[in-house]
Amino acid sequence: MGPNISEIADGIYRISIFVPEIAPPAGFTFNQFLVLGDEPLLFHTGLRKMFPLVSDAVSRIMPVGNLRWITFGHYEADECGAMNEWLAVAPQAQVAHGMTGCLVSLNDMADRPPRVLSNGEVIDIGGKRIRYIDTPHVPHGWDAGVIYEETSRTLFCGDLFTHLGNGPAITENDIVGPALASEDIFYDTSLFYDTSLGPSIAPTVRRLADLTPRTLALMHGSSYVGDTVAALNDLASAYDKRLRDAMAEMSA
Ligand SMILES: [Fe+2]
Ligand SMILES: [Fe+2]
Repeated sequence: MGPNISEIADGIYRISIFVPEIAPPAGFTFNQFLVLGDEPLLFHTGLRKMFPLVSDAVSRIMPVGNLRWITFGHYEADECGAMNEWLAVAPQAQVAHGMTGCLVSLNDMADRPPRVLSNGEVIDIGGKRIRYIDTPHVPHGWDAGVIYEETSRTLFCGDLFTHLGNGPAITENDIVGPALASEDIFYDTSLFYDTSLGPSIAPTVRRLADLTPRTLALMHGSSYVGDTVAALNDLASAYDKRLRDAMAEMSA
């Protein structure tokens, strides 16, 4: 099955690849986001082996060689496995990421030097403004960060709110319950348990709620256009409770 392409906000395209073999029977999605502007930006390259699928999908929206910015949440194969394939087909393209990601991985792993973004720095891509926000260890990885497109108020959450299934591109239904349920399934089956339960998780997610996004663009699952502030605060509270429960269990 080929990628599903949907425009989830003005000039922002979700390229979704469903993999039924992961976490069956529900399956699992990998979502890449293309943000159009004078300097088009991709958030998540997709896995290296998905490059033919993702690049074909992008080519249906714009010439792949016009890509200018390659961004992602953190250094992992699904987030950035195909970055060098993208650098090869788009001569003006550059990886952009936070200081930690560049120093730890990207200065070495990217075929051209990355642009280092400081926390809160904005890239004006012409028609869209992309703010980079450091979120170390949230949901995982010390190089973790998210981006926020200010004109459409779209928060690209990366792995936050990860949930199973091949739902619609956009939903107004609850995404907090499915995210917590998916994490529990992964934990029980040891498939993976993706959120680092540490002291920074709740305050970091609450800070994202302060942005008052209109849309939450999720890497794994449906994008969300309901009460985003409540969803982020509810997720933060749920992790806060899990952390406190885990600490209480340890000291019992
Ligand atoms: Fe990840
Ligand atoms: Fe991911």
